[in-house]
Amino acid sequence: MKFLRPDITGLPQSGIAKIAIPRLGDPSVIPLWFGEGDRITPEFIREAAMSALAEGETFYNFTRGTLHLREAIGDYLARIFGVDVHPDRITCPGSSMLCVTIAAQLALQKGDHAVAVAPHWPNIEMTLKIAGAEVSSVRQRLTDEGWALSAQEIIDVVRPNTRCIFVNSPCNPTGWVMKPEDQLALLEFCRERQILLIADEVYHRMVYDGSVASPSFLTIARDEDPVMIIYGMSKSWAMTGWRLGWVITPREASTAWQIMSENFNTGAAVFTQRAAATALRDGDGLVAELLAHYARGRDIVMEILSGHPRITLSKPKGAFYAFPRIEGIESSLQFAQDLLDTEDVGVAPGYTFGEDNEQHIRICFARSHEQLEEGLTRMLRYLDRG
Ligand SMILES: Cc1ncc(COP(=O)(O)O)c(C=O)c1O
Repeated sequence: MKFLRPDITGLPQSGIAKIAIPRLGDPSVIPLWFGEGDRITPEFIREAAMSALAEGETFYNFTRGTLHLREAIGDYLARIFGVDVHPDRITCPGSSMLCVTIAAQLALQKGDHAVAVAPHWPNIEMTLKIAGAEVSSVRQRLTDEGWALSAQEIIDVVRPNTRCIFVNSPCNPTGWVMKPEDQLALLEFCRERQILLIADEVYHRMVYDGSVASPSFLTIARDEDPVMIIYGMSKSWAMTGWRLGWVITPREASTAWQIMSENFNTGAAVFTQRAAATALRDGDGLVAELLAHYARGRDIVMEILSGHPRITLSKPKGAFYAFPRIEGIESSLQFAQDLLDTEDVGVAPGYTFGEDNEQHIRICFARSHEQLEEGLTRMLRYLDRG
């Protein structure tokens, strides 16, 4: 189709969508392929949206997010990270995905180079490419202590025309959590070279070492640093369908964010913003409850999979995914497809998370424990059949 941009039509479809879409909504499938659980958003959050609607909150509002929500975000960040973030530094244009898109568009154009820590969520590489960049991935290493990557390894792939580095910690799909000393070294490098660091911290409340949140660039970045830190309501408040996230940026970048927010989406729906503010203010119990549920899910995955002779699996330190390597498989897509066809279990194929993941699959352990156990048991049955 000559009227479409060839650099976009040439992009591959996400491997998660490829495997899942044909069987989407099929009740016979145990879906462990998407990054979400099966809990409906709790009533106190839904009620906040409903009362906003009942009160007539159906109009345009500030494109960078309502002041009500941005103040609630500021209070939340002060409580969780002990930092004071001015509402001018906060933008809520829509989903966290949209925050990634806008951040990439703000830094990158054709001819630029971007670095992304891998394995990574497929959307990340596509978003950087859609912005026009050539993308290099730097892959975490699977060590005896789990997935690992130093700041220096990231810096080593930077080129003279690198304009953006993307880091997602806690990581989808490996559960890797970047160490504070590496965050500091990378931040100092980006400050020195004026490279935009996009820090995707949407899983910040999902760490399993007892901390309230994962180590964050927010606690070490200065206001003027070239850093954009992305958060979202989807994962820790069971709000995936609401499409709401936010970004912390240098104050000087707020006009650019206003322009982009206006031209991409003209802001997020206002009644969802009211609900998000309520969730942030009153949702600590919910976050803790979900985390306990995911922690048990993680244990179930380890109990069922880790002893198998063909499976190498390190215990995820954060997020809600396991990313096992399965000895002997040649195509992760073929494996995922056969597993789906024969056992009705949906997993995400590893290849879609970047290079060198052909023997991996991603399993989301956020769903009901019964479903998870059943899905994993069927997977082993499939594996043992040969
Ligand atoms: C690493 C990462 N960033 C961003 C997102 C986007 O989240 P949202 O639902 O808020 O757009 C996801 C969703 O899976 C993710 O895994």
